[in-house]
Amino acid sequence: MTNSAPSPSHGSDRVPRHVAVIMDGNGRWAADRELPRYEGHREGMKAVRETIEAAIAEGVEILTLFAFSTENWNRPEEEILALMSLLQIYAHSERDELVEQGVQVKVLGDLAPMDRDTLEAVRAVEEATRGGRQLRLNLMVSYSGRTELLNAVRSLAREAALGALDPDDILPRHLEQYLHTRDLPDPDLLIRTSGEFRISNFMLWQLAYTEIHISPVLWPDFTRGHFGEAIRDYQRRERRFGRVTAP
Ligand code: FPP
Repeated sequence: MTNSAPSPSHGSDRVPRHVAVIMDGNGRWAADRELPRYEGHREGMKAVRETIEAAIAEGVEILTLFAFSTENWNRPEEEILALMSLLQIYAHSERDELVEQGVQVKVLGDLAPMDRDTLEAVRAVEEATRGGRQLRLNLMVSYSGRTELLNAVRSLAREAALGALDPDDILPRHLEQYLHTRDLPDPDLLIRTSGEFRISNFMLWQLAYTEIHISPVLWPDFTRGHFGEAIRDYQRRERRFGRVTAP
């Protein structure tokens, strides 16, 4: 990761290297139509497709989508099964298209509670798309920012207890090597849909200096055009990383 001291920057042609998205509003989209929540998630897959296309067209290098949080395991079993089955369907049905688009897929999170079929499907799509160089797509599944940090702290504490690391010498990069995103730069832009102003336990370390764009649109209605609006909003921002504006 390269998040220690990025340079302040702004400019209308600046493309965010890494865009993260909290895809929110599937349930409300379905409720508005008196449909089961599952239908909202299913429709949400189309928005995933649109977003990948838009990210490639804009020249984004890394797209990170929050698909399922650790807290989502507490949803009714029927909804969990539906979400896992959608993940399988996505992994199977989009595989060839993703390969053609040059997308490299990684599924990141605590996959231990995941059922075998879904795990096999996600491993297969990761394997099939390994050579993708156009866009790195991270699907965050069974992910919790706090748990990720806690696990990193535990690993550092273990190293310190073994005498391999002096606690006074611990630097950001030591912690970052234990994060799921260890090989990635921090997100430049976070998009959250459905008008909610919350981080919801997503990438708590990595979002420290990320610009945030809140879209009022429910996730299933999110289009390439909305993604473009978020990029344009980002390009109007001046990023200072805690410093003062350049003279
Ligand atoms: C939040 O909406 C969305 C989710 C918990 C799941 C996201 C899943 C998808 C977009 C579809 C599958 C994606 C892939 C990559 C296979 P919510 O249910 O919390 O909506 P609400 O706040 O309106 O209830």
